[in-house]
Amino acid sequence: MNQVKIAPSLLAADFGNLQRDVEMVNESDAAWHHLDIMDGVFVPNISYGMPVVKAIAKHASKPLDAHLMIIDPDRYIQTFADLGVYLLTVHYEACQHLHRTVQAIRAAGMKAGVALNPHTDVSLLKFILKDLDLVLVMSVNPGFGGQSFIPATYDKIRTLKKMLKDQESSALIEVDGGVGPDNASKLIDAGADVLVAGSSVFKAKDPKAIIAEMASVKVS
Ligand code: DX5
Ligand code: ZN
Repeated sequence: MNQVKIAPSLLAADFGNLQRDVEMVNESDAAWHHLDIMDGVFVPNISYGMPVVKAIAKHASKPLDAHLMIIDPDRYIQTFADLGVYLLTVHYEACQHLHRTVQAIRAAGMKAGVALNPHTDVSLLKFILKDLDLVLVMSVNPGFGGQSFIPATYDKIRTLKKMLKDQESSALIEVDGGVGPDNASKLIDAGADVLVAGSSVFKAKDPKAIIAEMASVKVS
């Protein structure tokens, strides 16, 4: 069993000191940089776009994990590949032809992930699981950092883990929203492979210590 991966969400970073915060992640025990792209249509908030992704990519030394909360993400797949994104995640609820989108992400040379809103059943991914590198289980409604974790997520992760095992799929399970040292162990026990953490990391006095604490949780 691999060690859990921590992906700090730069949405909670200080954008006036973005390089500093990206470098903090570089020097930490984090595995990836998590980038939240919001369009104000799919979710009721606008975060940042290509110029900021480019600036992050310039200073980041770890793989870029981009989470697109936008409608019609197909239009930007090549752009994100050109910016050096490692893993591109689109929302199930935002794609008309999800399988085609996933194929296009892989054809552009990136790993492909699909995100599910809290109300979306994991069984809807049954016939596409084999084609995915990652499933992102949203544990808050997407759009904002700093929200409370939704407890039903644990069961959802357990159900998904079983589906992946049954299909002999090596896709990773990523959890995003309201994640921190308080629920990290329980999430890992349920089957999470990647923990996204925004507020719990960047609002902490010692962000690197929080990342290290979560990264060192033993996988049973
Ligand atoms: C929410 C984003 C998250 C967010 C997490 O829509 O997808 O990545 O930044 O922030 P916290 O950890 O503060 O819930
Ligand atoms: Zn996210």
